[in-house]
Amino acid sequence: MKYNFDEIVDRRGTNSMNVEGFRGYIFGTYPGIEFPYTDDEFIRMWVADMEFSTAPEIIEAIKERADRKIFGYTNLYDDRYYRAFSAWCRKLYGWDFPQEQLVFTLGVVAALYELVGDLVPEGKKVLTLTPAYSYFLHAAEHNQRELVSSPLKKDAQGHFTIDWEDLEQKAADPDVAVLIFCNPHNPTGRIWTWEELDRLSQLIQKNDLWVISDEIHCDVLRSDRRHTPLGKVMPDYQKLVTCMSASKAFNLAGMMMSNIIVRDEALRNLMHFHETCDMNPLSIAAVQAAYEKGYDWLMELRAYLDANFDYMERFFAQRIPAAVVTKAEATYLAWIDMNQVLPGVEDLPLFFAQKAGVLLEGGNSLFVGNAKGYIRLNLAMPRSMLAKGLEHIAAAIEGYQA
Ligand SMILES: Cc1ncc(COP(=O)(O)O)c(C=O)c1O
Repeated sequence: MKYNFDEIVDRRGTNSMNVEGFRGYIFGTYPGIEFPYTDDEFIRMWVADMEFSTAPEIIEAIKERADRKIFGYTNLYDDRYYRAFSAWCRKLYGWDFPQEQLVFTLGVVAALYELVGDLVPEGKKVLTLTPAYSYFLHAAEHNQRELVSSPLKKDAQGHFTIDWEDLEQKAADPDVAVLIFCNPHNPTGRIWTWEELDRLSQLIQKNDLWVISDEIHCDVLRSDRRHTPLGKVMPDYQKLVTCMSASKAFNLAGMMMSNIIVRDEALRNLMHFHETCDMNPLSIAAVQAAYEKGYDWLMELRAYLDANFDYMERFFAQRIPAAVVTKAEATYLAWIDMNQVLPGVEDLPLFFAQKAGVLLEGGNSLFVGNAKGYIRLNLAMPRSMLAKGLEHIAAAIEGYQA
């Protein structure tokens, strides 16, 4: 390997949400909560960023831009960024889009908040599949819109599929205006097959829905997998918005720059942020470098994550066999059914924080619904850290069961 994913990077004192922001995010309902661990002692397997350094090519590009010394008002006035990103889309997904459709936001969540407001009239509803990333719900709530959930079906092996009958019925509600679709899916790690995407596209068209395809995890796949943008399956559908970003794959969430591909011209004109927001010059340098020079690094990251998933699956099979580990085809997040392991524990993140010194997410309050008894483990970390986190999890379970 050319890159070192075993390096432990010290994040203390960097205002990192992962390190310093966990109390509010995971334990907001327990104000003033204390733990038998100091913040430094926790093993952090929660929020979806990585314990890995970003690619050195990206750090170099940020430094080069810093050396230009001036950080005045900035926007994209040449097409180098578009050329880099569209070449990336052609190479990785066999898909492309016209330059004028590209809009930038300060993150996908910012786009969701705006889009739900723009696309869902008062009294109309948002539809999504559950379990779901909690900000799908927050985007609806922020705009005082109702969120309708269609729970995914799961089999005994922990494989998740769409409940077509349920989804078709909910999509046919004339009050449902927009579907927020997560592709690939957080937290189950599903990569939807072409057949699933095709069936979904027919359902969207039949009901004339707007669709926001949140594809933020599209580059974090197991090495033998490929991403299919929904836009590739629906090449002519105008009511589609695709959200992509280099933030997950290259650990750039704090750079706050995402690509929102909006086909509908009237919607693009309605979206006000590109008129009121300029861009961060360091973010442009970073994200452009990711698309121009990050491919080899990303392939090594994928191989490292493949091995982390193998390690975790072997560990669970040996030490916690009653857990059902969902096969993650994408993301660095493992979605694990603990219902048979800790049936009496109501709040799993609280249990593991208190008994294992491990920060993780799980359950309905963090994943909207259809998530009771599940935990989500972030595996994007050096293997030594992962091994320690898993040991702590197993020891806490053994202690509880003893
Ligand atoms: C499905 C999904 N969408 C959006 C986000 C966050 O997007 P951003 O950081 O660009 O606001 C996440 C982060 O975990 C996510 O999992």
